[in-house]
Amino acid sequence: MSNGPSPVLLSGAELPAVSVAPPGPESVAWLRRFAGVAAPMGPRAAWQEPQPGLGGTIVYRAAQGSNVVDVDGNRYVDLAAGFGSLLLGHNPAAVQRALVAQSAQLWQALGDVHPSALKIELQEHLAFRFGGPGVQSILAQSGADAVSAALKTAALFTGKPGVVAFAGAYHGLSYGPLAACGLRESYRAPFAAQLNPAVRFVEYPGDGEGLQRALGQLERELARGDVGAILYEPILGRGGCVVPPRELGAALAERARAAGCLLIADEIWTGLGRAGQWLYGRAHGPAADLVCLGKGLGGGLPISACLGRAEVLAAWSRAEEVVHTSTFAGAPLSCAAALATLSELSEQGLVERSERLGESFRTALAAAIAPHAAALGAELRGAGLMIGLELGRRSGAALELTRRLLARGYVTSLGGGRRETLVLTPALNISEALLEGFVQALADSLPGLAA
Ligand SMILES: Cc1ncc(COP(=O)(O)O)c(C=O)c1O
Repeated sequence: MSNGPSPVLLSGAELPAVSVAPPGPESVAWLRRFAGVAAPMGPRAAWQEPQPGLGGTIVYRAAQGSNVVDVDGNRYVDLAAGFGSLLLGHNPAAVQRALVAQSAQLWQALGDVHPSALKIELQEHLAFRFGGPGVQSILAQSGADAVSAALKTAALFTGKPGVVAFAGAYHGLSYGPLAACGLRESYRAPFAAQLNPAVRFVEYPGDGEGLQRALGQLERELARGDVGAILYEPILGRGGCVVPPRELGAALAERARAAGCLLIADEIWTGLGRAGQWLYGRAHGPAADLVCLGKGLGGGLPISACLGRAEVLAAWSRAEEVVHTSTFAGAPLSCAAALATLSELSEQGLVERSERLGESFRTALAAAIAPHAAALGAELRGAGLMIGLELGRRSGAALELTRRLLARGYVTSLGGGRRETLVLTPALNISEALLEGFVQALADSLPGLAA
């Protein structure tokens, strides 16, 4: 336990209150302990050499709604929201109630041998919400798990090992998705000998010309005849919130059908309202054969799903036994959290709010950025409350901006192949006043950043 100040009571919609420049002494002390026990995960993780008061990593103590309190007692507004996973903010009351009720009933069932009633209810709910009768699902724990399940489904269904993925894409880092990680070659390189060799990458289109190039590259890959899956993000998330031309999904679906392979839409980041639609890809094109959901599905608890039509998922019945399972997949507490999250998103109209609020937020951001846009090479992109601000001109500008914003009490994250994009993924129920406060903090943080 820490000797630091106890967490302040939070309404979840408070403006920042930073009294100690982050990271403060308590954060630094905790980070030193962390460095002793956590694997280093890279040569220079920010937390390995904390610089008191100079920005970088802080240590969270508590959170509520869109507020986080660190171990030094500073209060922040969270525009990273668990890398976009906290659609309802931290500790949402409806999910808490569901968890309390479920925790008195059942914590673990027995996979598919003896499933819980709640797991069946969640799968029915997912089918109802995402396509109706004939939609089935495989539940899993992380986004990477859901993508692995989709890749395996495609291999079983088509009998073909090849995958076409996109440059800049991120689907998680367990071995199946890692092979298709176009974000950084350095993620794959140390493990290359253990990865699916039949994965090829094509350009992720940011505009109409890019789309034509990407489709040309895709057609050449499909002509090789070994491709069982095209795996795509309807908006490139970690790759920097790149919004493709609207036709992308339809163009991919058409080519997948013609080539006898499956189209997998990775909606782990875009889905459930994050990008302003229940399924961003589905809103702008035909349904993909398989859809992966994760991140926000559990309201902060780990749960993910791979959904598809029954005739596609029937491929699993060709295996001689149960060849894909996991001890905690569809665990009752996570299912309770997911059901409560889905109800809350729907009852509070948060998917529609995300689209509406995202638009006005981007307009306000654009006005704040305008005086500095040319000097910074700034480009603002996004849909709903999934927003990227690329600062391409000076390397390190986006990282510096996250530090300045943290010092002003705003938690943000980074994306893009060179970490050149500030990423904003607040809770879908964040108050407008907090977004206005952020716009002002951004305007105050930009001067001098291009130098
Ligand atoms: C589009 C997308 N797919 C998959 C993943 C992997 O999810 P997880 O980190 O839960 O494995 C992520 C994570 O950022 C993601 O953005």
